[in-house]
Amino acid sequence: MFAAQAIDTSDKVAFYRDLAKQLKALLEGEHDSIANAANTSALIFQMVPDLNWAGFYFLASDEEMVLGPFQGKPACVRIAVGKGVCGTAVELGTSMLIKDVHDFPGHIACDAASRSEMVVLLEDDEGVFGVLDLDSPTPGRFDSADQAGIEALAAIYVAASSFQD
Ligand code: SME
Repeated sequence: MFAAQAIDTSDKVAFYRDLAKQLKALLEGEHDSIANAANTSALIFQMVPDLNWAGFYFLASDEEMVLGPFQGKPACVRIAVGKGVCGTAVELGTSMLIKDVHDFPGHIACDAASRSEMVVLLEDDEGVFGVLDLDSPTPGRFDSADQAGIEALAAIYVAASSFQD
């Protein structure tokens, strides 16, 4: 049985390095993309401090993403590419780090408690196929160290999972 080990959160770089090791161990030997997304969101929600939502959106077409596995309150099911923080990340082809969602025009509020947000891309050889989205109730919760750490976790998820139909 996998049991997440507590990690000291005072050094973010070391924290995310240890969390990456735990995620690799958690996903080892399993290629199912939905099961791996479920466990990735669960591990992130359990281990990363001060989150109120962590989960996946997957492109269902070139124009729209659909909700995947997540932890937190029930969320908006469909997000158009170009809309909200998630859709903007896909449209621009870049991670988004929003210090205060109230300052982001078009932010889609699934949970009114969310005050800051980070979205990183899920990308394989064929291109972007979704996003990993983290919300926090604390303004300014995420910085570039969180972004690098979560991008590394997203890459581990993509490498471990099979997306063939
Ligand atoms: N805030 C996101 C929507 C997804 S929820 O945060 C879970 C956005 O603006 O795209």
